[in-house]
Parts: sequence; C-alpha cells; structure tokens
Amino acid sequence: MTAEEAKKRIEDLSQQINYHNQLYYQESTSEISDYEFDQMLEELIRLENEFPEYKYPDSPSQRVGGTVTKEFDTVVHDYPMLSLSNTYSSEELTEFDKRVAKGLNNEDYEYFCELKFDGVAISLLYENGYLVRAATRGDGTRGDDITHNARTIRSIPLSIKADNLPQRFEVRGEAFLPRESFNKINRQREEAGEDLLANPRNAASGTLKMQDSAVVAQRQLDCYLYAMVGEDLPIFTHAEAIAQLEKWNFNISKTYRACKNIDEVFRYIKEWEDKRLELPVDTDGIVIKVNSHEQQRILGFTAKSPRWAIAYKYKAQSASTQLLDIDYQVGRTGAITPVAHLSPVKLAGTTVKRASLHNANEIARLDLRLGDTVYVEKGGEIIPKITGVDVSKRQAHSQSVEYIQHCPACETALIRKEGEAQHFCPNIKGCPPQIKGRIEHYIQRKAMDIDSMGKETVSLLYENGLLRTPADLYKLSYDDIFELEGFKDLSTQNLLKGIEESKKVPFENVLFALGIRYVGKTVAEKLARHFGNIRKLEAASFEELINVPEIGERIAQSIQQFFGDQDNRDIVEELIEAGLQFEIVEEEEYREGSALEGKLFVVSGVFTTFSREEIKEKIRANGGQVVSAVSGKVNYLLAGENMGPAKRKKAESLNISIISEQDFLNMLNTQK
Ligand code: IVH
Repeated sequence: MTAEEAKKRIEDLSQQINYHNQLYYQESTSEISDYEFDQMLEELIRLENEFPEYKYPDSPSQRVGGTVTKEFDTVVHDYPMLSLSNTYSSEELTEFDKRVAKGLNNEDYEYFCELKFDGVAISLLYENGYLVRAATRGDGTRGDDITHNARTIRSIPLSIKADNLPQRFEVRGEAFLPRESFNKINRQREEAGEDLLANPRNAASGTLKMQDSAVVAQRQLDCYLYAMVGEDLPIFTHAEAIAQLEKWNFNISKTYRACKNIDEVFRYIKEWEDKRLELPVDTDGIVIKVNSHEQQRILGFTAKSPRWAIAYKYKAQSASTQLLDIDYQVGRTGAITPVAHLSPVKLAGTTVKRASLHNANEIARLDLRLGDTVYVEKGGEIIPKITGVDVSKRQAHSQSVEYIQHCPACETALIRKEGEAQHFCPNIKGCPPQIKGRIEHYIQRKAMDIDSMGKETVSLLYENGLLRTPADLYKLSYDDIFELEGFKDLSTQNLLKGIEESKKVPFENVLFALGIRYVGKTVAEKLARHFGNIRKLEAASFEELINVPEIGERIAQSIQQFFGDQDNRDIVEELIEAGLQFEIVEEEEYREGSALEGKLFVVSGVFTTFSREEIKEKIRANGGQVVSAVSGKVNYLLAGENMGPAKRKKAESLNISIISEQDFLNMLNTQK
C-alpha cells in the first residue's frame, strides 16, 4: 500500500468508525455488528502503526487506550468548578425563587432544569477544535489531568468540525458508569472472587483515576455534558449553550426543560421523580439554573456555589412488602448468596420481586423471619436492598430464618472460614453450579473470549457429560456439538472456531481464565509479567510470590493452593498440550545498567533534572522497579520537592530510606 493509499484508507476508516460510534452512543442504534466494528478499528490501528505520519490527534483509535499514567498531573481550572447548594424541600425551593426574584429586582427571568446525574464532574478543554485536556473537579480549583482516560469515553468528541468555533473553551459535565455496565463489572468481579464495587458513582470515580487507560476503555464510561465556559463566548443563555453543544455532537441528556417559572419547575420535579429511574444512569435530583447568562452574572456566587442555581434532591424511595421466601445461589467459587423473594411491589417505577441479602450476617442483623413485612429501598444497584423490618406487623410465633447448612445444589455441608461473611460449598469438584461457573468464567470476554459460546451452551454441554473442565473444551468434536439440541452446521462450526481461536489468547488472559481465587485480570497481568511463564509461577514459593510488588499473602496462598491440587495441575497440563499460550511474549526493554537491580522505588514530588516520568524510566532502565504505594517491600522513597507528607510519614514508620534526587544520581554513578 502506498502512503497515499494508506492516508485515504485511514481517513475513510476514521470517518466510518466515527459515524458508527455516533449512532451507537448517541442514538442507541447500530448498522453493523460489534465484530465488524472491531475489525475496522483493528485495521485503522494497524495502518496508523505502519504510517504514523497519518495518525491524527483525533483518531478514533485513541478510544482503545493503552497509555499508562503513573501519577496524574495537576490542572488548575480556568474557572473554579463550584458545587451547588442542595435542598430536599419545596419550601426551600420557593425561598430560592424569591431570592432570585429579589436579586434581579423583579425583572423577568426563566429557569432551565436538568437532572442531577450522580457521577463525577469533569471538564473538557477544547483548543482550535481539538480536545486537548480533560480534568477532574478535584477541590474545585485544582483537579487531575485525566486526558488519556477521558479519550476512551466514546461519546466525548475528540475534535469538533464547525465554522465559528471559539478558539478555546471548556465543556463541563458528569462522567458516569451506566448502571448496566456497573452491574456487568460486578458480576465479573464476583466471578473472579474480587471485592465488589460499592456503587456506580464510586466506580466511575475510581475508573477515571485508573493508571491504565486500556482498562478504562473496557469499563465503558459515559458522560453527559451540562455546561460550557470560556472567554467571550457568543452565547447568552444556558439553553443556547446546550443547543450549541448538541449541534457539536456532545452527549446531552434529552431530559432538560426550559421552565418559565417556579411552578413549571415543580411540575418538572414531579414528572421526573419516577421516570428518572428508567434512565441508564443514577440521578439523585434535579438542577435548576437561571437561564440568562447576564442574570447569572448579576446574581453571582457565594464562596462555594452560584446564587443562580440550586439542586433539588429526591428523598430515597422505599416501599414495604412481604418476605415470601429466601433462595440461595451458588457462585463459581462456591460462595453462597441469599436472595429474598418478595411479594411484588411497585417501587420507583418498577415492580420489585427480589432483593439481595448478601450473607448470613445480614439476615441476622435484620432478624428476618419469613412472612415479615420488610422495607425495600433502591440504591445504585438494580437489585434493591432490604433496609429494615416493620416489627409491628410481625406475625405471632414467627421463627427467625435458619440459614441453610447444606448446598442447595449438591447437598454438601457448607463451611464458613474465619473472618469471612460468606458461606461456601466446599464441594469444588462436584457441585454443578461451581463447575459450570468456572467454565463460564473461562470463556468470558476478559478471559479467553470464546464469544461463540454462552451460558446455555455451557449448561447443555455439561448436562450431556461433555464438559467438566476448561480442558474438555479442546476435546469437543464436531459430532459432539452437532448432536446437541439447537445446533446446526454453522453454529457447530462457529463454536469450534471460537474454541480454536482461544489458543491464541495471550498468557495473562489464560492465567486469569484459570479462575484462581483472588487472581483477577490485573493480578494475572502482574504475575504473567513477573514470572514470564506458567512453569515459573507454578514453582514459585510463598516468599517469591509475596515478594512480587502488589501481591499479598491472600493471593499468594490462593495460588499455592491452586497448584497444590493435582487435578488443577492436570488441567493446566492438558491446556498446555492443547496448545494454549502459557508464556509471555517479551517486549524489548531499554537497559542502561543494573545498578538498581532488584530495588523497589516509590517516586513522589517534583524533580529538577528529570520529570517524574523520566526519573521512573531511569529507574527501570537501571534494573529497578517503581510502585505507587509505600509498603514494607519498598527499598527507597525517592523524594522530590513538595512530596506528600503522608508518604514520608509512612516511609519513616517502615524505616525505608528516603533519598533525594542527588542521592539517586550518586547511586547510579558510584555503582556503574
Ligand atoms: S451544574 C456551579 N448540572 O453536581 C455548579 N451539575 O453539586 C455547576 N451535577 O459538581 C454544576 N448533574 O458534578 C450541574 N445537570 C447538572 C448536574 C450537575 C450533576 C453535579 C456536578 C457538580 C455537582 C454540584
């Protein structure tokens, strides 16, 4: 392909990808399959690598991430990012309206109402039509530079093509994790035996601060924009700002409304009270803004918030209903989760029939009895929570719920390890939901990505005695599958192809797919990189394992337990035999020397000779490693100007050497 052809193809692909992105994220439709979309993106990335001169700053390839930021730079906001004053009462809202009227000397004014999205405030800076910086709110004056992570949010335009575009302006909004993505992530974490994310808002905030933007890209954050700020913008009302942003393809939630007076505002509040729960994002109230920018200027600000806007918060919604029964689910790791069956009740727009109860402690805490009238509330999660019991309605002689003693699937006596809230079914090898759960974990996208296979197929193969371990997948023949109910020639071939393809999946995915408890995707990547292949990991002693940065005793123990089991070792051998990847593909590393071999550093503060990234490079180039948290394994805290006091204190308490930039340079020189 000539450079000219490549340029044309890159531009074509970018245009098509942008078009499909727009359809998918703004209009929730699609004209092509995910697979076709991924193919186009892959081709684009390949061409851009081959012809880097045509890798444009707003290329859609930026969305897949890949940049690792160890420490986020600080950004000083051009205009402070303020918060809003809150109210839960209509009286206070009427008071607010009176203050506005008075502040404007009773001249006419209008409001603009929006929902209050429960995510993380972000600011996007555009210069000459390009997104040049994204930042978190931080303390309102200073935030963190999260540009690489924000670029992975597909609904955020990387560039804007329009006439009369202001040279520099900022768009502000709320980044969030759609409830559906949140639930999906938690399901996957549960499968990996990892701690669950508390709610979509914390998850969004944690995601934006992740170091690896490729992981951010997978999390599928989204963002609604609700403000535009800048010098001399040709815009006079908030409604105009929103209309302008819509024209430029920013993602604006179509839930806003211009209101002529406070009565219309009250109607808006009432209307959205239930409807808001059908939105893909959590909302906790509405924001009422004075529409005219000139009037906003007249009303001004208090120290913390504008006088021209207020947030009205909805009270948490609860309903009462009867507890009919408790059902127990068995997860991949054998963990038992009790689920309450409720008499169907309307709560905030949907009918609730089930509520999660987490574990036996929760049932004891609530002192639940079957037939009790319970209060249910909706939090951030789809499945509501039981928050209490209406004891006044309790039937006489009701009995406390007896937690099950045996696995509901295989009847094995349950165990509960010290310090753990969850009960477990120890019949790891014979309990059907555990066996099927492990295979479902194995084939999932983040692991072996066998997307031609789903839960139902796993069940079907299991029930037909064809599938007990992941290794059995590679023994399946055409006839085995073709004879299953619902399978035809094409679906059989597809399934076999998917299994075959999985043999190319890299080692870190395979390691994660094995389903070792506490070895989630990130830990698997660390272990794969550290040990390089399965043999070394298998042979690693407990000490060797806990000496790996960021691997603790709990993980080390779990790894040893896994490989201590002959059946697991057999599965691994069979998988090796089947031709899966059990070795890392080495990347060439730049080396200067080995003066810092085996030494672990934490780098903090600002330096004179190097930028922070450069100093970290220097450490790695001389055989050292860099981690972000001070722990007992760290050898040196490399302290620059303005280092955080907490890190220093922690290092002092652990007797870790605190060295200056000069000490560091001496170390490199003397040992050369
Ligand atoms: S306007 C001067 N509009 O609420 C404040 N904020 O307490 C301008 N938020 O930090 C904010 N939805 O994170 C505005 N439609 C909306 C909002 C919204 C959510 C958040 C935002 C802000 C906080 C204010």
